[in-house]
Amino acid sequence: MSTIARVNTPLPGPRSKALFHRWARVEAQCTGYQAPVVWDRASGVLVTDVDGNTFIDWTSGVLVTNVGHCHPDLVKAVQAASAKLLNNYECLNEPRVEAAEKLISVLPPHLDKCFFLSTGSETVEGAVRIMKRHSGRFEIVSFYGGFHGRTYAALSAGGLAGPKKGYGPTLPGAIRVPFPYCYRCPFRAQPETCDLLCIDYLDDAVRANSTGSLAGVIVEAYLGAAGFIFPPAGWFPRLEQWLRSRGLLFTLDEVQSSFGRTGKFFALEWENLTPDLVCIGKGIGSGVPASAIAARGEVIGVLGPGEMSSTMGGNPVACAAVCAVIDIMRREKLEENALRIGALMKARLLEMKDRCPYLGDVRGMGLVMGVELVKDRKTKEPAPDLTRKLIDLAAQNGLLIGSVGIFGSVIRVAPPLVITEAEAHESLDIFEKALSLL
Ligand SMILES: Cc1ncc(COP(=O)(O)O)c(C=O)c1O
Repeated sequence: MSTIARVNTPLPGPRSKALFHRWARVEAQCTGYQAPVVWDRASGVLVTDVDGNTFIDWTSGVLVTNVGHCHPDLVKAVQAASAKLLNNYECLNEPRVEAAEKLISVLPPHLDKCFFLSTGSETVEGAVRIMKRHSGRFEIVSFYGGFHGRTYAALSAGGLAGPKKGYGPTLPGAIRVPFPYCYRCPFRAQPETCDLLCIDYLDDAVRANSTGSLAGVIVEAYLGAAGFIFPPAGWFPRLEQWLRSRGLLFTLDEVQSSFGRTGKFFALEWENLTPDLVCIGKGIGSGVPASAIAARGEVIGVLGPGEMSSTMGGNPVACAAVCAVIDIMRREKLEENALRIGALMKARLLEMKDRCPYLGDVRGMGLVMGVELVKDRKTKEPAPDLTRKLIDLAAQNGLLIGSVGIFGSVIRVAPPLVITEAEAHESLDIFEKALSLL
């Protein structure tokens, strides 16, 4: 029985329905499938729709509102900053200096410079440009299933066909290689015995595809859009060894995985990775559009004056938000909460997997977990239709979930990092009930 979430109308409720109708008449309908709910307001992990229904949120927008929806300190900081100054482009403002100092203070020491932008895609475009400029070469190694955004360099490095359909040819020089999706290993190997043959395969891929102009590698800390796919322990250090031994630059896309999501401030901390460039987005503003490239000073230093700009990047409101978010994360120890609540949620999801024949795989760490739905556990046939149905059933019972995945069959379990034990348990009860109704 739900005590926190409360849904009093069939979904969509009457006001939501009317808004969906008005919207369809005036805005292009090209966003992905979501529960039929029009959000009105949100606080912590709770979202209330325009019909007065309250849901527990497992989406965090799309892994954005890490410090909780509308955290009062974040709202206060944004209100104060916006009352003073909204935009001054490249003229310096004080919040920008403070945000840069704070960001550098939470990064590993080798990443000693940053640059503020507005979106994740922008950071990827910037990182790819820097890798090319610094190396004087143009080929970029990236991964099957990778998603780095919808702008052109990001799209070209991406390893999902969907976002590229109809836009070809993409940028030359993209060399895509298999990512260790161990549940569906492209080499049909077993993680216990494979000795990471996918790393050895990189040499074959480069031999077959490179013209001798390799600049660097871009990779997500885990595959986000492809279905929250985490590489096995040891894979990243082996990848880093591989690329270093070839003198390649290393960009880690932490647009999604940073700011506490995996239980560390940055996912790179798990295996002490030392990328040259890190793309940071989403959680850095926790709802306020902000992003940043963090880099070794020597690498980003290849850009001289006037060589990088962004109309909104580094604006005082976004920078005030970044400062507030870092302060909140530190004070409320949100990485620790992500680890603790994430562990209890994963344990319960794994128990559900034993009971529900549609749960093929449960994976992830901290508060980013993927639940992959299949029609049959043996054949692993993906179940995108069931996934969609589950999104609706969960919403009707008070839980907002979304889906990702190469096959559109992975449920995102990614609540704001402030989620309490009681909220976690209630949301899991709702999820289990929704599963039983499939
Ligand atoms: C890993 C990763 N990189 C880049 C992006 C692009 O970010 P944005 O949508 O802010 O441009 C995303 C967005 O989902 C992402 O998950």
